[in-house]
This record gives sequence, C-alpha cells and structure tokens, in this order.
Amino acid sequence: MIIWDDSMATGVPEIDGQHIELIERYNAFAETLNTHQFMTLEAGELLDFLQFYAVWHFEREEECFDKYECPIAAANKEAHAEFIHKFGHFYEQWQTQGMNPELMRQTFAELGIWIANHIRRIDTELYPCYATHARQ
Ligand SMILES: [Fe+2]
Ligand SMILES: [Fe+2]
Repeated sequence: MIIWDDSMATGVPEIDGQHIELIERYNAFAETLNTHQFMTLEAGELLDFLQFYAVWHFEREEECFDKYECPIAAANKEAHAEFIHKFGHFYEQWQTQGMNPELMRQTFAELGIWIANHIRRIDTELYPCYATHARQ
C-alpha cells in the first residue's frame, strides 16, 4: 500500500490528481493480491489501465514540463518511453500468452518501483518550476 503525500507533489493539481489515481489503482490491486491467490481479471485490468494511463498522463505531464521550462524535461520523457516499452511488453505477453503468476508479480513490482522512483524523484522536479511560473 502506498499513500500519496507531499513528497510526491508536483504542485500542478491535474498532474497530482492523475498520480493519485495511479496509486489508487496500485493499492486496489495490492488488496486483491492479499485476498485471492490468482487474480487474472484484476491483473489484466491493471495492464489495460496502464496502457491508457501512458497516453492520458504522460502527454499532459510532458506538456507541463515544457511549459514550465523544467530542466529535466528530456529525462522525464525518456523515462516515460521506458515505461511504455516495459508495460507494453507486459501487456503483449498477457494478450498473447494469457496471465500467469510471474507476469502478475512483475507488473505489480515494477509499478511499485515506478511510483517510488519516478514520481518521487523526477515528477516532483516540476514543483519549483511550476511555482516560479505561478509567481510571475
Ligand atoms: Fe513523469
Ligand atoms: Fe507522472
């Protein structure tokens, strides 16, 4: 279970809202992991959501990084491309071979790492850039 707090804030309400939604999905999946043994349906739904999320969230966030002239905009974009590659591969595996416990475990673990590392370390770099623009 991951709880959103100020250490993940970007200051942009729309972006923070989208991060909160991702964390809620992650937590909902974590809960089913504790209650069932093999949740192929939930794991598929999570992979489905992540495909949608990549388009819905990354485009909007990259626009903000450019608009607020954040110096690590390129690194953010690169990390997003890696996410798309990684979770796109998981999605394809699910579509072609079906869900299995290892794929489910990998999806869950990688998403947890993404939230802890990417949102906390990269996305939060938006905070001072946005704050500077908001003051002008
Ligand atoms: Fe990002
Ligand atoms: Fe993000």
